[in-house]
Order: sequence, then C-alpha cells, then structure tokens
Amino acid sequence: MLKKNELRPIRSFVLRQGRLTKHQANAIKLLSKNWVIPFGSKLINWDKQFPNKDARKIIEIGFGMGATTAEIALKQQDVNFIGLEVHTPGVGNLLNLIQRNELTNLKIIHHDAVEVFDSMIATELLDAIHIFFPDPWHKKRHHKRRLIQDSFLRKIYPALKRNGYLHIATDWEDYASWIIDAINKFDGLELQKDKFFTKPSYRPDTKYEKRGLGLGHDVWDILSIKR
Ligand SMILES: C[S@@+](CC[C@H](N)C(=O)[O-])C[C@H]1O[C@@H](n2cnc3c(N)ncnc32)[C@H](O)[C@@H]1O
Repeated sequence: MLKKNELRPIRSFVLRQGRLTKHQANAIKLLSKNWVIPFGSKLINWDKQFPNKDARKIIEIGFGMGATTAEIALKQQDVNFIGLEVHTPGVGNLLNLIQRNELTNLKIIHHDAVEVFDSMIATELLDAIHIFFPDPWHKKRHHKRRLIQDSFLRKIYPALKRNGYLHIATDWEDYASWIIDAINKFDGLELQKDKFFTKPSYRPDTKYEKRGLGLGHDVWDILSIKR
C-alpha cells in the first residue's frame, strides 16, 4: 500500500472492471494451474515450462483477448511463447483458446510486463519480443504512460539474444514516429528499414488493429534487431 507522500508509479495501463464472462472465470479457476506462470522474483526455467526444449523463445507483451497470440502459437510449433497481460478477461479468453487448440507451446503471465522483465527473464535469452498495438495514450498529457520509452527499451533489451528482434505494431501515426524515434536513439537496436511498415506474414490482424482499420487508420509494423 502506498503512503500518502509516496509517488504512484506511472503505468502503461489502467485496470478497468471489464466484464468477466462465466466461461473466462471458469478458465482462470480451472486452467491457470496448467498454463499460467505465477508472477515472482525467480527467473523462469523455460525447459521446465515447455516440452520442446530446442524451440525458439518469444515473449508477447499485452496480448489483449489473445486470439492472435493463440493463432501465432498454433502456426509456429517450433517456438515457445509466453504472453504477458494484465487484463483478466483477456487471460481467461486466451486460456480457453490454449485448451481448445491443445497448445503446449504457449503460457501466460498475468502481470505487468515491466515487473516481469525486472525479475523473471534472463539476459540474452529471447529470440524475439512482440508488442502489437500497445495503448497509444494519444493525449499529450498521457504520453508519459506510453509503454515504449527509452527506460522500457533499456529494460527489455538485455533479454534479447544478439540478432533477436523487437516487433512493435501500431495504428497511431504519432506513436509510430515516437517509437521510431525512441529506437533510433537507442544504442544497440537497428531499425529494419527494408521491412519498415510491411506486415510480416506471421502476424494475423489483431482485434485492436481491426478497430483501427475501421477508423481509417494506417498500420505500421516496426522491426528492429539487436546488434
Ligand atoms: C490496445 S491493447 C492491444 C491488445 C492486442 N495486442 C491487440 O492488438 O488486439 C493493449 C493491451 O496491452 C495491455 N498492457 C498495457 N500495458 C501492459 C503492461 N505493462 N503489461 C502487460 N500488459 C499491458 C493492456 O491491458 C491491453 O490489453
């Protein structure tokens, strides 16, 4: 509990009391033991979590309702995925999708990605990090809440292997410029100019993307590689 004079941390999300359906609540109650890795202070032992020890390792931050995440994991059985999300209905929804598709290469951490990277992810471990449609926080006074900031890049960068990639997609032009600027200023991440703004074939349309496209937005896929 924060004391009155302590500063509240600036978070990239606001937890809204979204409706949790019975199906989602049941999934959380019954399926978490199989597919949710509890948040903690110890590094995750990926070999214990997944049957395929030789698989590549990818973390997705902010999977929303998780439909895209499940689809990608189903198509890429040679990759072990961990999805991070704070939104409880999304966690319940993805648990149901994992069970329905009998996925053994996807697990969830129901927690703030910032804290997960602080304590649970080893260095030089990940082949990639996916961040699809992070909340744009488009009002100027809210820019400080944007997930993609220099401090966040510094936090996740050590977890990537050399030549590992960071894939961020957004449908907000102003956020796209902001992200490109942050990566350009960041020593060690190299923007892939040739693949700039072209959606890679492994990424299906996400829920937020469809909403953005409906509003007439363009979409930018921003890829960078750790050098
Ligand atoms: C705009 S939604 C996009 C969801 C999904 N990727 C899509 O494209 O449909 C952003 C998601 O990121 C999650 N999120 C924001 N900050 C987060 C954080 N620090 N850790 C984990 N999840 C976060 C939010 O709860 C939300 O579900």
